[in-house]
Amino acid sequence: MTCTVTVLGATGSIGRSTADLLDQHRGRFRVGAVAGGRDAAALARVARDLGASFAALADPAGGRDLAQALAGSGIACGAGPAAVIEAATRDADLVVAAVSGAAGLAPTHAAIRLGRTVALANKESLVCAGDAFMRDARRFGARILPMDSEHNALAQAIGEGRVEDITRMTITASGGPFRTAPRERIAAASAAEAAAHPTWSMGMKINIDSATLMNKGLELVEAHHLFAIDAGRLDVVVHPQSIVHGLVTWRDGAVTAGLAMPDMRVPIAHCLGIGERLSIARGRAVDLAATGSLTFERPDEERFPCLRIARAALAAGGAQPTVMNAANEIAVAAFIAGRIGFYDIAALVEGACEGFAARYPAAPADVEEALAIDAEVRRWSEARLAA
Ligand SMILES: NC(=O)c1ccc[n+]([C@@H]2O[C@H](COP(=O)([O-])OP(=O)(O)OC[C@H]3O[C@@H](n4cnc5c(N)ncnc54)[C@H](OP(=O)(O)O)[C@@H]3O)[C@@H](O)[C@H]2O)c1
Repeated sequence: MTCTVTVLGATGSIGRSTADLLDQHRGRFRVGAVAGGRDAAALARVARDLGASFAALADPAGGRDLAQALAGSGIACGAGPAAVIEAATRDADLVVAAVSGAAGLAPTHAAIRLGRTVALANKESLVCAGDAFMRDARRFGARILPMDSEHNALAQAIGEGRVEDITRMTITASGGPFRTAPRERIAAASAAEAAAHPTWSMGMKINIDSATLMNKGLELVEAHHLFAIDAGRLDVVVHPQSIVHGLVTWRDGAVTAGLAMPDMRVPIAHCLGIGERLSIARGRAVDLAATGSLTFERPDEERFPCLRIARAALAAGGAQPTVMNAANEIAVAAFIAGRIGFYDIAALVEGACEGFAARYPAAPADVEEALAIDAEVRRWSEARLAA
């Protein structure tokens, strides 16, 4: 039986890797809808290549270009947020949620409300609205498959085990491009330097999050929600080879771990297979003897304060992760635009977390409230940057 797949964020890094696998296994999959942000030409190309039935662009201004690029293809299309929601809610056996940032929350949540199976790469959805998102997944019978490499590895390492038997869940970090750099060097880094990731090929926003280690902070919050595990049992360790992605320590001292080469097609294939294993053309299996040594070290929260800030936000709970995520998105965009320096990212995020702590002590009651807080923090962050 063919599996109908929808890809949200189809033109991005995860979207392209997903398209590569869908193309390799054409007989097995049919592509329903694809959605993208602003690049109409790229979205039309991927829609045609994959034989999608519907393409949606978030940017309403790109609607004409998209329609022109798809003329004669028989592929229906639309533009604007409502079109992206339509893409997310069209009939599908699997929805790949790979939009970057909290922009992915509304369409991913729309798929959740229909009880769909969702392969979740868009970690910001869970950071912005984790409690409400997971509660609705349970309420509407949606299944969430972790697509982030660390969480996919953890899910495989947990297997049939019980979360109450886990004493520690560890996610690994490559350490990013500045792992060994002194603080003064990091402080002067440009966006291009910060985006030069040593082991993974990814989109710009997650590249910067990897350089600040905020990506690990977001992933701690993601793991907390995905696996219903408390912050005290979550840990981060730096592992520059990026081969061990997640480790589970059990009550009896045994450790199970998920290993794979640093290639996002591995966790994507695991999700697309929904229980079956797919082959990956030009993929490489781990060869430990060839790798030689795997090394591990503690993260340095003095040079990488975003990890400390994220741990504190997770421990504090309430709306702190929502606030942190929104401020981080504004800060990262400003850093990419050359408006602020590397350590100004952490300063803005910490300022937002402190500034909104008393105003929003409780976790957002629903996704709508999470998005309202997100919008307010974005406005506050922009105003602070402009001051
Ligand atoms: N890349 C990785 O290796 C990796 C690994 C683990 C997890 N993740 C997570 O996966 C997500 C995607 O990451 P990425 O690296 O693939 O990002 P990316 O390369 O920047 O791609 C983002 C995608 O989202 C689209 N998009 C942006 N705004 C949208 C909107 N409002 N509605 C619909 N689509 C929209 C973009 O389209 P346009 O290009 O046209 O704007 C693009 O297709 C992130 O949450 C990231 O943290 C990524």
